[in-house]
Amino acid sequence: MEQITENICRYKNFNFPVDMTTAEYIDSLQSFEIRDSDVFLVTYLKSGTIWTQQIIISIYELSGGLPEYSNNSEQMPWLEFSEGQDYPLRPSPRLLCSHLPPTLMPLALKDKKAKIIYVMRNPKDNMVSYFHFSRECCKFDTPESFEQFFEQYLSGNVGGSSWFDHIRAWLSVKDQCNILYLTYEDMILDLTGAVRKICSFLGKNLSEADIQKVVEKATFKNMKKDPKANYEFIPKDKVRGNFMRKGQIGDWKNLFTAEQSERVDRLLQEKLGDLSLNFIWE
Ligand code: A3P
Repeated sequence: MEQITENICRYKNFNFPVDMTTAEYIDSLQSFEIRDSDVFLVTYLKSGTIWTQQIIISIYELSGGLPEYSNNSEQMPWLEFSEGQDYPLRPSPRLLCSHLPPTLMPLALKDKKAKIIYVMRNPKDNMVSYFHFSRECCKFDTPESFEQFFEQYLSGNVGGSSWFDHIRAWLSVKDQCNILYLTYEDMILDLTGAVRKICSFLGKNLSEADIQKVVEKATFKNMKKDPKANYEFIPKDKVRGNFMRKGQIGDWKNLFTAEQSERVDRLLQEKLGDLSLNFIWE
């Protein structure tokens, strides 16, 4: 791993927080033995990972047969940061999260084994969420200002590397993997609809009452009070603030200048324009 900033190191063209994983472990994931029943939630960080994690866990809890763990992070660990977990002994269904790009993921996912849910978020809101989180999480470089973070994010010199590359890479494996694409914005605008989509993708036929229970457990207000889901179990010397910050669309308008917004619009067009994405980002 090559250290590129105080808190970030790079391996195989992808940026990780320092001291959270090793090159050998990342390499070993290529041959990670996949089960058909495995579910991977993949995101660029700050895109709604812990929200979707809560939804997936609740769906499995209500459909029965999920072993109990002390919190959502134990229940659905981050693949790249969980060296030493005895995954072969973990009972099915194994639920996992990841921020990795497709090239660093287990190869067997491309045989359409297991299921992947990929959640995307408007890069402007993603950047703002990431900026606030970086100020509170000791695993990231503390930004000097929003302007400085804006440049660092766009250059891809942040944990998770470039948002644009992540999105393109994951959209390009659409036909090789068993994958459902969702956006944070879709979930905000129609949480029940998103829960239904996830249930259908996972093959879980929940009753209407159970779907509503999942939705209730996943609202911002309720999740913030849920000690298994709100990530307040992370020690304060690691993350000072909240994973559950605002939970809204459009917070970027409080920080972006008109010029910064136009720059991101241009980059979206340049870098992803050919994909004809039709996202409801506004
Ligand atoms: P904000 O910082 O914009 O509030 P991740 O889990 O990938 O780190 O993403 C964190 C973002 O998801 C934060 O965004 C957080 O508030 C938001 N989030 C978490 N739970 C949510 C929920 N139940 N509803 C809406 N947003 C949620």
